[in-house]
Amino acid sequence: MSTPETASQYTDQFNTALQWMWGDGYLAPGGPEEIAEMLKGLSIKGADVVDIGCGLGAIAVLLTEQYEAGSVIGIDVEAHLIEQSTARAVAAGLDDRIRFQLVEPGPLPLENDSLDVVFSKDAIVHMPDKVAFYREALRVLRPGGLMVGSDWLRGDETTLTANAQNWLDFVHLDFKMMNLEDTHASISSAGFKDVSLRDRNSWYQQEIQKEIGALEGENLTKLKSLIGEKGAAYRQESSRLKKCAIDDGFLRPTHFLGFKPEVEI
Ligand SMILES: C[S@@+](CC[C@H](N)C(=O)[O-])C[C@H]1O[C@@H](n2cnc3c(N)ncnc32)[C@H](O)[C@@H]1O
Repeated sequence: MSTPETASQYTDQFNTALQWMWGDGYLAPGGPEEIAEMLKGLSIKGADVVDIGCGLGAIAVLLTEQYEAGSVIGIDVEAHLIEQSTARAVAAGLDDRIRFQLVEPGPLPLENDSLDVVFSKDAIVHMPDKVAFYREALRVLRPGGLMVGSDWLRGDETTLTANAQNWLDFVHLDFKMMNLEDTHASISSAGFKDVSLRDRNSWYQQEIQKEIGALEGENLTKLKSLIGEKGAAYRQESSRLKKCAIDDGFLRPTHFLGFKPEVEI
């Protein structure tokens, strides 16, 4: 568990609620189907991968089992998530190919040119300096390497409606959201080529209905038995406000791709 000095954002109770909506081991929307969308048309077979902000480790296991990554290093800033991820890899019998490492926010404790793929799902939103992160991602990739990720981006100022602000105020996670244009520019300026972004706002407009369904009627009663009345009520209100932020075009989950240039001879 996290210590009082490093207050956990992803507490066990919070994670129970997130998995209730998004599936065992997933702390962000979409589950394995959304990973399939992120990796559509790409192969990571045999690749050495880092999963940045690995959460509970389910994605590292999926990348290894289903997408045949050669090795995965999952990194995260919360010690209890690293412990749970490690247990998950051991239970899957994959601890010879997957390892998890606790890191401090900031520069990645990884060698230059040491990996084929930098993967990240909905974790960069927590990082204040996105450009520094993309530079680090480029540094650790081998020439020709792939960065593939998803992040919670935002719309322009007109989309920061009262609804969207209510959602941001309510969730009080340390979200530091960037828009799509600035994200494209940041990834490109870090040195990636063939950069592309795919806005998932309209997908999430549909998906949020499932999330809200998981928080109603009998489902809500079951969730209450897991995390208590107050926790379940918080979750319901958070998803209701988030739906407004999505519908107003503020919350824009977005997939992105970029490649490290090959070395010129
Ligand atoms: C929304 S969760 C997503 C977890 C996982 N990728 C998934 O999709 O289930 C965001 C994760 O990023 C981690 N995180 C936050 N800041 C980070 C940082 N600077 N470096 C690495 N991980 C970070 C959090 O602890 C959390 O596990």
